[in-house]
Amino acid sequence: MVDSVYRTRSLGVAAEGLPDQYADGQAARVWQLYIGDTRSRTAEYRSWLLALLRQHRCRSVLDVACGTGVDSIMLLEEGFQVTSVDASDKMLKYALKERWERRKEEPFDRWVIEEANWLTLEKDLEKPGDGFDAVICLGNSFAHLPDFKGDQSDHKLALRNIASMVRPGCPGH
Ligand SMILES: C[S@@+](CC[C@H](N)C(=O)[O-])C[C@H]1O[C@@H](n2cnc3c(N)ncnc32)[C@H](O)[C@@H]1O
Repeated sequence: MVDSVYRTRSLGVAAEGLPDQYADGQAARVWQLYIGDTRSRTAEYRSWLLALLRQHRCRSVLDVACGTGVDSIMLLEEGFQVTSVDASDKMLKYALKERWERRKEEPFDRWVIEEANWLTLEKDLEKPGDGFDAVICLGNSFAHLPDFKGDQSDHKLALRNIASMVRPGCPGH
């Protein structure tokens, strides 16, 4: 549920400009249950996404709505360098747990996970060099951004910030 007050977030966690729709922790748990077998969930678009990234010789990928990490994990297992961000610390908790449990696998040891909001992405996340080879935003995530001002200015700002993370010259930039 959308709540414009930040009181529902975990104490001590910075929250700027965005209500965390998963703040109560219940929705994050339900999302994990809903995904169920992650391999059967990613099977539907896995080959398409991997082929697209490889066709454009992408190595580094930013997942801007990683949630519990389902797509990031798939990309790590396929050898991509992955940075994963999300506005919800409750969702990120699952990704962080997976990183810890698989820390002996090199791609997981190098996996960067940060809390970040699309509206303040440039401030929340340090862009490596000229940027990432590709950015993904999957799982119906962009629809989570409310149009608080009624003029879609937040959507435009979010898209500009997301696009700014892509290395100039990469397809789609
Ligand atoms: C439906 S979940 C999908 C998560 C993941 N991509 C998946 O498919 O499992 C949507 C995610 O978008 C994140 N999100 C929504 N608005 C956001 C924003 N402004 N900035 C960053 N993340 C946001 C939510 O916290 C949530 O984890």
